Amino acid sequence: MSKIGLLGIGYSVPEKVLTNFDLEKMVDTTDEWITQRTGIKTRHIATDKECNSDIIVPGAQRAIQMAGIDPQEIDAIIVGTVTPDYMFPSTAAMVQKKLGIKEAMVFDFEAGCTGFLYGLDIARGLIATGNYRNVLAIGSDLLSKITNWKERNTCVLFGDGGGAAVIGTRDDAHELIDVKNYGDGTLGDLLIQPGGGSVNPISNTVIDNDLQYLQMGNGPEIFKWAILDMCKVSKELMDKHGLAPDEVDWLIPHQANLRIMVKVAERLSIPEEKVVITVPDYGNTSAGTIPIAMGRYLEDGRIKSGQILLLTAFGAGFTYGAALIRW
Ligand code: UT7
Repeated sequence: MSKIGLLGIGYSVPEKVLTNFDLEKMVDTTDEWITQRTGIKTRHIATDKECNSDIIVPGAQRAIQMAGIDPQEIDAIIVGTVTPDYMFPSTAAMVQKKLGIKEAMVFDFEAGCTGFLYGLDIARGLIATGNYRNVLAIGSDLLSKITNWKERNTCVLFGDGGGAAVIGTRDDAHELIDVKNYGDGTLGDLLIQPGGGSVNPISNTVIDNDLQYLQMGNGPEIFKWAILDMCKVSKELMDKHGLAPDEVDWLIPHQANLRIMVKVAERLSIPEEKVVITVPDYGNTSAGTIPIAMGRYLEDGRIKSGQILLLTAFGAGFTYGAALIRW
């Protein structure tokens, strides 16, 4: 029987790599501090000339190729991002243009680091209407563009990149068993880009006060909520589907901090060797982390056909969610 699921997945990151040792020359930090506190060793950073759609298009092309469909069969492109090409038009429209897709619904949405999981949820809903057959769901961010490179609390954490999945209904789809997302706006101030929106439109005052940059109010508080929320929603999905921890083949958590990922696995009783870990190579790429991590483990054959994948993410909003996929 045909099922809704992933037909293809792809990821892409900028070529340029920034190491912890490079950062030692830019701010008062050390490779040792970054490694111990976050697990991050390197991150990929876009050049001044590269924008979000430039970076994600090769990943999207790989996803479409793996799906084995013609790009013209994509009838919706949705992009979860907090670093769009422009405030408008949407990055999805720019991706559409670069892929040469003629007719598709295109829009962006903001769900912070949970963007890819929100995208799976939205795609599933669109397909269920019967009006859309194949949805290209993208999670992609270039946080380097809104990072204050003079602030050590944040600049060591982030990187650029993204991933895309083609969602559709087919006998051979990698079944999207379920996906569930939440938000909690009361904690929104903790992770915020204060300038550039309707509260603080771009002005000299915004620039003088560095409000155009991402701000992370209280790292340890976010750390705590990330663990609590990812565990809560993961557990909810596992219980709903009667899934015991040993039935999960891979836990694919948002890659913000290795210590958070290890704690989430521990609380879900999933052993560390079943946790997909790519944060050392890419840092926190926001909406990009999960499809990048999945893509990496698929291309080297670690994720195998029939395996159960538990995806979970947490990010600005706050937002959080989880998904179950039978690969
Ligand atoms: O994507 C979703 C949202 N983001 C997250 O999930 C991030 C969640 N938070 C975290 O991952 C961690 O809180 C951080 C990695 C951001 C920070 O680690 P921490 O162990 O919570 O450190 P801290 O904020 O408590 O800071 C400890 C010390 C401070 O010095 P004092 O006050 O103890 O003297 C900081 O000033 O480390 C200092 N520090 C640094 N030192 C060297 C902060 N950043 C750096 C740095 N290099 N880059």
